[in-house]
Parts: sequence; C-alpha cells; structure tokens
Amino acid sequence: MPYKNLLIENENGITTVIINRPKAMNALNELTLIELQDAFIHLTEDKATQVIIITGSGEKAFIAGADIAAMQSLTALEARQFAKLGHQVMRYIEACPKPVIAAVNGFALGGGCELALGCDIRIAADNARFGQPEVNLGIIPGFGGTQRLARLIGKGRALELILTGNMVDAAESYRIGLANKIVPQEQLLETAKQMATTIISKGSYAVRLAKEAVRNGLEIDLERANQYESELFGLCFATADQKEGMEAFLEKRQADFKGA
Ligand code: CAA
Repeated sequence: MPYKNLLIENENGITTVIINRPKAMNALNELTLIELQDAFIHLTEDKATQVIIITGSGEKAFIAGADIAAMQSLTALEARQFAKLGHQVMRYIEACPKPVIAAVNGFALGGGCELALGCDIRIAADNARFGQPEVNLGIIPGFGGTQRLARLIGKGRALELILTGNMVDAAESYRIGLANKIVPQEQLLETAKQMATTIISKGSYAVRLAKEAVRNGLEIDLERANQYESELFGLCFATADQKEGMEAFLEKRQADFKGA
C-alpha cells in the first residue's frame, strides 16, 4: 500500500521507515499509526528486510508525540480506541521477529518516546530530547509509556519523567539507560546502519531467538524464563547456522551464515 505519512527505503537487508509529517513534527495521527501497522505486517514477512530502522523526517523531531490537534475533541471512548490502536502498533514493533532500531533525530516526546521504547535499541542524535509531557496536557501516556519506561529505566526515574513532564537531553537519556548511545546528528543513520549490518552478519535464527528470549522472558518469572531460554538454546542446534558457526570457530575462519 502506498503511504501518505511514511517513507520506506531498503538497501542491503536494512529497511528504514521514516515518519514523514514534518509540519507537525512527525506527530502520530490515526492514519500514521494505521500505516505503521501495515508496514510492520509487511516487513515481518518481507525477505529483503533483516533489520528495521525507524526515524523521523527532518532534523528537529523523531516524533513529537501523538497528534494533539487530532486528539483534542475525542470522546472518552474514542480516546480509549486511539490508545488501543497505539498499543497495537507498539506491539507489532516490539514483537517483530526482526530487530528494530530507533534512530532518534530530535524530539521523542509522548507517543514518540513510547514508540522508541517499543524498539529494541535506541540510538540518539546529540540533539535528541526524550520526555513524557502528557501531564502538561491533562492526560497520561497512552501508548505504553507508563509500563515500558518503568521497565527500561526503573520505576523512580520513569515516574520522575512522567510526573514532571520534563524532557531529558541526549546525555541524560544515555546516563539513565534510555538511549543505547549518542552520536552527532550527521552520523545518526550511518551509525544505525552499521549496527544493523553487524546484526545482519550473524546467524538470523540466533538473532531472532535471542530477541524472543529477552522479550518474552521478561514477562515471566526467572525460573520459567530460564527454562524457556534452555528450549530456545536447544532449538539453535537444529539450525545449519549453529553447525557453521561452531565449525568456523574451530577452523579459525569467518562464519558464513545462511539463515537456515
Ligand atoms: N501534535 C500535533 N502537532 C504538533 C505536535 C503534536 N504532538 N508537536 C508539535 N506539533 C506542531 C505544532 O503545533 C506546530 O504546528 P504549527 O506550525 O502549525 O503551529 C509545529 O508542530 C511546530 O511545533 P512548535 O512551533 O511548537 O515547535 P517548537 O520548536 O517551538 O517546539 C516541541 C517543539 C517542544 C516539540 C513542541 O512542539 C511541543 O511541545 N510539542 C508537543 C509535545 C507533546 O506534548 N507531546 C505529547 C503528545 S500527547 C501523547 O503523545 C499522548 C500519548 O502518549 C498517546
């Protein structure tokens, strides 16, 4: 489907999804969320896509939140529906079997911070600003921020951001574990692509199972999570990539993974 608010580029196994509403600082309205959902359904199956990068168009904003103008007159039931749509999209991103990297090129606020939280890895440009400023609008985060932020950076820090509505800059986002690394704005996409290329060079089954183990394991108790890890670890030994990876190590050569 052709998209109105997304640009999609693909090269060398890396698909870059660009949220493209620069006049509204790439704010997420209903159509953008529906397009993102459709894109992720497609990219999950797309053979040319091994890693996905999400970024915003322009140099000022990753995503400045859910679209405030579109939300202003929603009824309670419509707002609940809108939040459910947002949750569904974040889930498609989070549950995608392929790694998803957020390249945060400016403001990542409200729904934008929440979308970054749904990604596996966050790389921040030096002008990135993260925040959950919903209390300034008389609302709370609605696309998973109250849950994923606390799980990622801890309850105390998450509550500080959510209750004050304050933004943190790139350095602080790195310090509190919200961003994985900070790079100069002009190197942002290149850095994200280099990381994607490193991931692509590994056995794709192992990458997929590792993501599954971390994501699903965090939702259950440690004992069952470790048991789950053992099952997935065992499954790796049914792949040609495991044979190749170990053989290559013992033969002191580079592994040639086939994703099989
Ligand atoms: N929704 C709709 N439009 C937005 C927007 C948003 N979230 N954020 C920015 N815009 C629009 C502005 O209205 C403005 O449009 P006009 O040019 O037509 O007036 C344009 O983008 C540029 O914005 P500013 O003039 O405000 O730019 P700035 O550089 O002075 O400030 C900013 C940038 C700090 C990001 C500021 O725009 C801002 O505070 N935006 C709102 C951030 C916010 O509150 N996000 C949370 C939204 S609620 C949410 O996301 C709920 C949820 O969890 C689901």
